[in-house]
Amino acid sequence: MSVAENLRGPGAPTATVTIDGARYDLPIRKGTLGPDVLDINSFYQETGCFTYDPGYTSTASCESKITFIDGDKGILLYRGYPIDQLAEQGSFLETAYLLLYGELPTAAQLAEFTDRITRHTMVHEQMTRFYTGFRRDAHPMAVMVGVVGALSAFYHDSIDIKDPSQREMASVRMIAKMPTIAAMAYKYSIGQPFVYPRNELDYSANFLHMCFAVPSEEYKVNPILARAMRRIFILHADHEQNASTSTVRLAGSSGANPFACISAGIACLWGPAHGGANEAALTMLQEIGTVERIPEFIKRAKDKDDSFRLMGFGHRVYKNYDPRAKIMQKTCHEVLEAVGLRNDPILKVALELERIALSDDYFIQKKLYPNIDFYSGITLKALGFPTDMFTVLFAIARTVGWIAQWKEMIADPSQRIGRPRQLYTGATERAYVPMSQREAPQRSS
Ligand code: SDX
Repeated sequence: MSVAENLRGPGAPTATVTIDGARYDLPIRKGTLGPDVLDINSFYQETGCFTYDPGYTSTASCESKITFIDGDKGILLYRGYPIDQLAEQGSFLETAYLLLYGELPTAAQLAEFTDRITRHTMVHEQMTRFYTGFRRDAHPMAVMVGVVGALSAFYHDSIDIKDPSQREMASVRMIAKMPTIAAMAYKYSIGQPFVYPRNELDYSANFLHMCFAVPSEEYKVNPILARAMRRIFILHADHEQNASTSTVRLAGSSGANPFACISAGIACLWGPAHGGANEAALTMLQEIGTVERIPEFIKRAKDKDDSFRLMGFGHRVYKNYDPRAKIMQKTCHEVLEAVGLRNDPILKVALELERIALSDDYFIQKKLYPNIDFYSGITLKALGFPTDMFTVLFAIARTVGWIAQWKEMIADPSQRIGRPRQLYTGATERAYVPMSQREAPQRSS
């Protein structure tokens, strides 16, 4: 198949595909940033062929104005604003407003938005009963998938996705209640009573308070840890069309209610190749244990016959340093200093592993750099969270991105149900064989 660009009409760029001698012009669409796209909307209708891209490595699934990533340059923009500037200077709800509505809020707009979120941080009291249905040692991500999905059983007045006011209400409720639901999952797992949200605390401090306060004494949130939590939430808020965001969009394209869509996103994020990598990265660092054992693991990571991967390394899009990882590393040092773990042996292993990997030809050639998950695990552990809560924190932050992307999709007039096709390589049609005539099937290897 040869692709040659030619002009069709006044300046409309197209690419030409030739199949069995027939030529087809594909419109080329240009974005404001990033690669052009070949519009293949009518490709099957015109050519009778599908395109094939199982990992979506070359496929744009939608048009979006929310987040831009340049993987080669290590650039991440939320509505055009660089992630490092937002992480250093913005608050999480300010970033949430930006992702949801497209512009940085004025002071009055942020105050109104913050008040709306604050007023919805409590959950229906009956929801507390869901937790007792889980084993104490249930993974909190399993609890999150269940409880978030169950929100649609409580908030019937905000599940009609055709009604913009209900979409807005569901969005506010999701963003407001995620920290509360997550903190309840943590408290339940350690046998402590649930702590209600406090309206005088900001989003990040409120979450830390709900996780670590106990009824028997005053809990003062450490401002350095609250600043770290805010930064971690901002870094994880959105990331273009990653696996969990694509899951939310696909679930939403069927008209499913927003709570069910976010629950689907949480389930997808749980995977160790995606949001579960922060938990897996810390577990890997703990398994390595000492700097002396690093070469053994680097060797395993390079061995094609060994399924071991360096967790927290590599990325589908970033072929340069993940800009979030740099900020995470800085935050990691600040938190370890604040909690007196400056000489944490795990950090030493992480820094040495990064140094060795970044100078190793295998990682250089495959452009494998630390991603956001490499330092987040050490930081979250130092903040006091157990390893199985790391992906839950990722889900709290990413709920803002999921909601922003879901709203953008629902409001898109060209939106249709997502329904990919396939390359079928199974059996051709054959007649039913009665049991009496069946031989034991020859198992194909
Ligand atoms: C997140 O998409 C997003 O934006 C995700 C995310 C977000 O904010 O939403 O950024 C969050 O999920 C970050 C990624 C977290 N995952 C991990 O850290 C898990 C470890 N990384 C890998 O599993 C892998 O790098 C992926 C899943 C992240 C990317 O997989 P790809 O793009 O499918 O790349 P690949 O697996 O085909 O790897 C390409 C090559 C392979 O070698 P070859 O088959 O070409 O010889 O690089 C090798 C891989 O073997 N490789 C690694 C490696 N990652 C890739 N080798 C050793 N260690 C690794 N970590």
